[in-house]
Amino acid sequence: MTATRNLLSVADLGADGIDEVLKLTDSFVEVSQRDIARVPALRGKTVVSLFYEDSTRTRLSFETAARRLSADTMTFSVSTSSVKKGESLKDTIQTIDAMGVDAIVVRHRCSGVPWQVARWSTSAVINAGDGWHEHPTQALLDCYTIRQRLGGVAGKHIAIVGDIKHSRVARSGMIAFTALGADVTLVAPHTLLPPSLDGWPAAVSTDLDAVLPKVDVVYLLRLQNERMTEALLPSAREYTARYGLTRARAATLAEGAIVMHPGPMNRGVEIAAEVADEPYAVITQQVANGVAVRQAVLFLLLGAGGPIAA
Ligand code: NCD
Repeated sequence: MTATRNLLSVADLGADGIDEVLKLTDSFVEVSQRDIARVPALRGKTVVSLFYEDSTRTRLSFETAARRLSADTMTFSVSTSSVKKGESLKDTIQTIDAMGVDAIVVRHRCSGVPWQVARWSTSAVINAGDGWHEHPTQALLDCYTIRQRLGGVAGKHIAIVGDIKHSRVARSGMIAFTALGADVTLVAPHTLLPPSLDGWPAAVSTDLDAVLPKVDVVYLLRLQNERMTEALLPSAREYTARYGLTRARAATLAEGAIVMHPGPMNRGVEIAAEVADEPYAVITQQVANGVAVRQAVLFLLLGAGGPIAA
């Protein structure tokens, strides 16, 4: 990451870059346990969040991370901005850039937008989710959580289950997990898999019951109905019957296996309500780790090699 100013794809980091982020995250997790979790590392820097798509945890997580580093934060709310008056993305970026910001955290429903923003802006650009394409900081916090709970990612068997086709989380996760030496199996009905899996370093199965007892991690995805342009499933109930992590299915997991979900969860669809609250479901830990991972990313992009704590 030291060689680049942006974080657009998790593939740009490679195994060494991911390791660098995870190691630095350890320091921020340690800082977060102090009475005062704030450090002055990015004092005087400004981080803008530019979210053209709904978000709860990713936006709050980036803003919390920036504040814990003493950076100033600005939130650009599309629904109350001049975007509603027809301002183009390019003009919006140039306007933000002219204010002298240091980082733009961008989420957009179209794949590739963060690359475009990086071309138009002189600030560091962080991809907080572009369409069906990538969500690099989610993959990093997931790697961190797996490492924390299972001691490492290498050699682990990870099943990513559900709406793979529309999921940027699945794509970035698969790239990061395999870069660190995990085996990934994608589990979904054919209609929820991408039309071509050429170049995807993963096995594929349509049979969740056969895969579950063999894995260390079950990573569940939400059915992203807002991205489905056609009927891909008979019904949510039938999806749950074959692919939902019910209590009975969870009982077939190996000892020590963990259950993950990027949120937002649809309890009762891809995950049974009570399974989500079991100790082996690490979903709230993912959220907690997300802040420290994003601190590490902001620090690496903007910290100019200075110390974390003065
Ligand atoms: C995901 C997203 O928006 O890509 N959530 C997240 O960022 N934690 C997944 C989703 O929307 O289902």
